[in-house]
Amino acid sequence: MNFLTVLSAPVCILLAILTASLHFHHPAIYFLPWKNLQDTSLPLEADLIIRNGVIFTSDESLPFADSMAVANGRVLRIGNNSFVQEVAGHGTQVLDLEGKVVVPGFIDSHVHFISGGLQVMQVGLRGVNKKEEVIRRIKEAAESAKPGSWILGGGWNNDQWGGDLPAAYWIDDFTPNNPVWLSRMDGHMGWANSATLRLAGITNSTESPRGGTIVRSADGEPTGLLVDSAMTLVVSRIPELSIDDRREALQKASDLALTKGVTTVVDVGRYFPGVSADLPWEDFTDVYQWTNAMSKMKVRVCLFFPMETWPRLADLVNKTGRALSQWVYFGGVKAFFDGSLGSNSALFYQPYQDEPDNYGLQLTELDALLNMTLESDLYGLQIAIHAIGDKANDLILDLHSAVASTNGFRDRRFRIEHAQHLAPGTPQRFGKEGVIASVQPDHLLADADFAAKKLGNDRAERESYLFKSLLDSNALVAFGSDWPVTDMNPLSGINLAVKRKPPNWKDAWIPSECISLEAAIKGYTISAARASFIDNDLGSLSFGKLADFVILSTDSWKDFAETASASVEATYVSGVRAYP
Ligand SMILES: *[C@@H]1O[C@H](CO)[C@@H](O)[C@H](O)[C@H]1NC(C)=O
Ligand SMILES: *[C@@H]1O[C@H](CO)[C@@H](O)[C@H](O)[C@H]1NC(C)=O
Ligand SMILES: *[C@@H]1O[C@H](CO)[C@@H](O)[C@H](O)[C@H]1NC(C)=O
Ligand SMILES: *[C@@H]1O[C@H](CO)[C@@H](O)[C@H](O)[C@H]1NC(C)=O
Repeated sequence: MNFLTVLSAPVCILLAILTASLHFHHPAIYFLPWKNLQDTSLPLEADLIIRNGVIFTSDESLPFADSMAVANGRVLRIGNNSFVQEVAGHGTQVLDLEGKVVVPGFIDSHVHFISGGLQVMQVGLRGVNKKEEVIRRIKEAAESAKPGSWILGGGWNNDQWGGDLPAAYWIDDFTPNNPVWLSRMDGHMGWANSATLRLAGITNSTESPRGGTIVRSADGEPTGLLVDSAMTLVVSRIPELSIDDRREALQKASDLALTKGVTTVVDVGRYFPGVSADLPWEDFTDVYQWTNAMSKMKVRVCLFFPMETWPRLADLVNKTGRALSQWVYFGGVKAFFDGSLGSNSALFYQPYQDEPDNYGLQLTELDALLNMTLESDLYGLQIAIHAIGDKANDLILDLHSAVASTNGFRDRRFRIEHAQHLAPGTPQRFGKEGVIASVQPDHLLADADFAAKKLGNDRAERESYLFKSLLDSNALVAFGSDWPVTDMNPLSGINLAVKRKPPNWKDAWIPSECISLEAAIKGYTISAARASFIDNDLGSLSFGKLADFVILSTDSWKDFAETASASVEATYVSGVRAYP
């Protein structure tokens, strides 16, 4: 079905207005226009002035200021108190920051926003470090579940309870009539009970599909664990969630984001290998478009869609420009190239230390990927490709070179998602070739403890999370969380990028890769905005940009720079307090 046919009338009118305001003609190589949403006619009187603070702007031309004026949701003035006071009027609200530190609203560059919101509503197993507690939570959900209804959730990480992989028999006793499906924290493995295996028709004789594994016991019986594309066998049986559930998930996700100072997210979709590429489109039409039209958006989103659906996005952007409103931006298209370290499926040059025959999985054929990348790029769409292992990263950098030389030079801001393990010389390639590293400091937490086991100590130390090397090579480094794979919490990500010290560690993991506080904040603000082409409107507290900012608990920049720790006191979106 063409998505336009499912649009509601008010949205169609909105689209018509947006389309009418666009003028662009382009020959052969087609450039999608960047529609500048900036309001050029800001009034002379401020709605809000914040003063007496330490405002870190993420804007090189004025890194720090003590006051800022906001009008019409945008920055009207920023600088010293007397300069900002000039735009005070009778109706201006004034907020004394009492010396507190203020930073631009955080941009989380990589989230699965609706999945995360749904997880808030389901069985949450993230961070649970005892097998007994995992079982207890599922039992609790089973007690309140209607017979026959699905028990869904996830976030479990067996590395946190000693490594034992979960199995159907752990939970079969109390879930005889409820199918259970719980995804691993990295989304590359799922755990089913026997009711689910029956429902999905997975038996002793079912063969693993291409690109996936049905995990079996020594005598050949499926244990309940499914890896990568084998997850489709179950996921395709899970009934559609209602539209209301998904809309509620967006509100839950947004509320959580605001408590963490996150005012913009880059949603890379409810998309794991093997899951229908239509899902993010359904979320777009049912959830984002509706919420935007109802003026119920609380957090700005920039959306990426599965790469194989690029014609649909090209068509949409052609009609609406790169934003539906100042709440919903269109990013580009995303593809997977390899798996994850946790599931031993990230693609490496050398095998896994704990599995000497396993080099990881290449999930997509290079020819097909190059073809799709060339096509989407030709239509001006931004490209983001998931690559975690060292070999996967090099192959995707090669692919970027091929695209650049075939389609010609332009400001395409090609992104590699995760860029987690990089061979010697690879960080320099990111800088030289202008490829964005979209990385997640929070993954360090889990990986610091087991990367050495999987990669060997030398390779783990040489190759993991090379933030400093990337920055020193002039690469654009954008920070994100990968929520719900990890917590959505930029202040924790900033702390990890600066200190690289998981709570139970005495010293930093690879201290030479620690970065400064300012660099870390930029990773979650201006660099993240550039990495999604939204820096016209967002990413720094600069004249004319949207006034999204966060007031932190600390009133000393010096302490903050040393400890890299603070909490969120208040979050403002468009100059209006959104939390608490
Ligand atoms: C305040 O800022 C204005 C505008 O940037 C500048 O002209 C002025 O000299 C500043 N005043 C002080 C006291 O620094
Ligand atoms: C599957 O294999 C296991 C172990 O060999 C066996 O105990 C079980 O009966 C088999 N199930 C069926 C349905 O054949
Ligand atoms: C964009 O829209 C114009 C006018 O409707 C059309 O002529 C053109 O082919 C479209 N381009 C793409 C890439 O869809
Ligand atoms: C991609 O593949 C299709 C089908 O084989 C072909 O028609 C098209 O020209 C290819 N595009 C590029 C850019 O290579």
